[in-house]
Amino acid sequence: MTADEIAFFDKIAPRWDSMEIKSLPPKVRLILTLCGVEPGMRVLDLGTGTGVLLPYLSEMVGPDGHVTGVDISRGMLAECERKNSHLGNVSLECKDFETEPIDGKFDLVLLYCVYPHLHYPIATLRRLFDESLAPEGRIIIAFPNDEVFVNNIHADKHAPHEPLPSATSLAARLAAAGFPTRVVAESEELYIVEIEK
Ligand SMILES: C[S@@+](CC[C@H](N)C(=O)[O-])C[C@H]1O[C@@H](n2cnc3c(N)ncnc32)[C@H](O)[C@@H]1O
Repeated sequence: MTADEIAFFDKIAPRWDSMEIKSLPPKVRLILTLCGVEPGMRVLDLGTGTGVLLPYLSEMVGPDGHVTGVDISRGMLAECERKNSHLGNVSLECKDFETEPIDGKFDLVLLYCVYPHLHYPIATLRRLFDESLAPEGRIIIAFPNDEVFVNNIHADKHAPHEPLPSATSLAARLAAAGFPTRVVAESEELYIVEIEK
């Protein structure tokens, strides 16, 4: 991420959770269930932000699993740490996951509300696929809404690099790039695309 992009998230961090209208508990649980989160899994939550997924992931993977949250914004991570430091099976790392290596292998790599912020989406997914996935691991690109909602948010604010395509279009693009891809859910309220090792 650029310094300007990091500064944007640092500044908005204290207000982030109060602006959240889509990642409500039943929706988050449904998405994580559709993503196949199970006890004992090692999950990597890239762009964890203030950690909206972490309490749910922590509970769902249980004491035998582990969740690693990664974000480059210290402001977002400070909020995340404040809310989630009591979760014993969660650890946080401050790094740019597009340019810095990530230690370990994961059963599930989540990009939740993060994909439009990637500078090098295909190269980043390739590296995650090759280096961070355990055998039979999966990468999930998910949103609690459709691409129209995402693109409206970005229209007058912090612009992403290009509009988010529909889940079907993104899956086709990723398949053309050589990833075994499928659409798990696609509606006004759900957007889940999966890459499987
Ligand atoms: C739109 S927010 C979503 C946060 C969280 N997943 C949620 O749904 O509330 C995007 C987050 O991804 C982080 N991010 C984007 N690109 C990143 C990168 N290359 N490395 C680390 N963090 C990144 C930003 O700092 C920000 O916290």
